[in-house]
This record gives sequence, structure tokens and C-alpha cells, in this order.
Amino acid sequence: MRLAVAGKGGAGKTTISSTLARLAARSGTRVVAIDADANPNLATALGLPPAVAEGLGAVPTSLVSRRQGGAGLTEPIDDVLNRYALVAPDGVRLLGMGAPAHADEGCLCSAHAVVASLMEDLGADEDRLVVIDMEASPEHFSRGTVRHAEVVCLVAEPYYRSLETVRRMAALAAELPVSRVVVVANKVRSVGDHEAIAEFCDRQALELAGSVPWSEDVVAADRQRVPVVDWPRAASVVDAVAAVGAVLGQAAPPGSKGASSGKVRELPLPATAT
Ligand SMILES: Nc1ncnc2c1ncn2[C@@H]1O[C@H](COP(=O)(O)OP(=O)(O)O)[C@@H](O)[C@H]1O
Ligand SMILES: [Mg+2]
Repeated sequence: MRLAVAGKGGAGKTTISSTLARLAARSGTRVVAIDADANPNLATALGLPPAVAEGLGAVPTSLVSRRQGGAGLTEPIDDVLNRYALVAPDGVRLLGMGAPAHADEGCLCSAHAVVASLMEDLGADEDRLVVIDMEASPEHFSRGTVRHAEVVCLVAEPYYRSLETVRRMAALAAELPVSRVVVVANKVRSVGDHEAIAEFCDRQALELAGSVPWSEDVVAADRQRVPVVDWPRAASVVDAVAAVGAVLGQAAPPGSKGASSGKVRELPLPATAT
């Protein structure tokens, strides 16, 4: 099952992606995480020490070739994983899209083709969870990089510009063959925050898959470069992310995108954090 996590910059995509990946791996699921942000930081969020995280190389663009129906990898996905993935705590395997090494380097078209090809080939194993941490730009949608995701999770903060971004991304996702689009509220400080996002989802006919509270302990964990999942005082946030995982593990509710497609099978995600 392939899950792409998108949303406005700073909304909490990397925090939620890394926590979902670690929780699923902990519960025995094989997990591949892809850092699809040209400004990568998923490796440290998963718990790799900075010196190791810096070793995350990009899967080379030379491994992608044009083939009928789009681009594809020229080598078996297991060989690519063995050669390029770093192994993070709980056994999460991490692949990188690669960051531009220099200014004025040009576009990242080929890097996007790498992510699309990885996603396509990783989908062959339905019991594996693939979590793709996207960059804030809508380019992953406009280029169709996320076309191979079964689920797109849009992370929303309870303020207008964040919700505007979610609305735009949801509209773009609706044009792709993605089975299910959900919203996850993050940094929720009050009932009013939650209600603002719930009303937005109602208006836009979007499924709200869960609500993650704002927590000073997430900030504290981040400062110490400790993953949220390994920071005991952030348990309320970890539990909320686990609850999102449990919702994604069930079929989409009636009336939402994905409800009647029949394409969504159970996601290999944990029901609880513990
Ligand atoms: N629920 C939360 N409560 C408090 N801070 C959070 C929460 N979720 C994320 N953050 C903080 O917000 C910042 C941006 O989060 P990040 O996951 O890097 O966002 P993105 O990947 O969307 O840019 C980080 O400093 C992170 O620690
Ligand atoms: Mg990020």
C-alpha cells in the first residue's frame, strides 16, 4: 500500500510520515519510506543520526528509462532497495529523491521521474507499506508523481492558508487515479481548531482521517533531534497518529473518494501505538 503525505510547508508532513512509518514497522509491517522532498529531512525524523542521514544518496536518474505508459526502473526494485536504502530504526528502509547539490542547477524533472518509478515498482508488494513524504509544492500533483499512490494524506493546520493549500492539492489529486484522499488535522490546539478543519472537510466533501494535537513536546523532541515516536512525553501525538493509521487501515467511508472504487484493501498500519 502506497501512502503519499502532502500539504503546506511546515504543516507536519515529515513528522506524521516518519511516525506512521515507525509505528507500522514496529508492528511487523515491512515499510519503505521515500523522502520526496528536494530539501530532505525524513532520515533524521526517522531517527538516523545526522552523520548517517547525510549518507542518503539519491536513487540515480540513470536507473529510470522511458517505457510504454511512462518512466520505469531499469533494475529490479529489490536490487535498488539493497543498494540505495538506508535502514532506519525499527527496520524502516529509506530511499531519497536527492537534493540539488548546487545553485542554478536547473529543474528536478528527472528526480520526480525517479520517485514515480520507485512508487510504481514498490506497489507490486501489497503487504508492504510505502510512505512518501512529499515536498510542499504542488509539483508532485501537477507532474503526476503521486499517481501510483493508493492514498494521499493531506496534512492541514487550522488556519486559512494551510486549508487553501489542501483544497488545491485535493482538487489536483482528484484528477489522478488515486483511490483515496484524506485530510489529517495537525497542530490542533482547541476544539475550535478541530471544528474549523472538520467544517472545511465537510464543505469540500473530504474525509477527515484524524486530528493530531499541538504539543510542546514535539518541538522539544525536534530540538533534541529525537523522533517523536521515541519521545515518551509526546505520547498524545503518537497515539493520535496511530489512530490515523487505524482509520487508513479501514475502508473509506461511504460518500468519500475511494469509498466505491473497491481498490482500497486494508492498509498494513497498526491499530494502536502500543
Ligand atoms: N503536532 C505538533 N505539535 C507541535 N509541533 C509540531 C507538530 N507537528 C509538527 N510540528 C513541528 O512543526 C515543524 C514542521 O514540521 P514538519 O513535520 O517538518 O513539517 P513539513 O514536513 O510539513 O514541512 C517542526 O518543527 C515540527 O517539530
Ligand atoms: Mg518535510
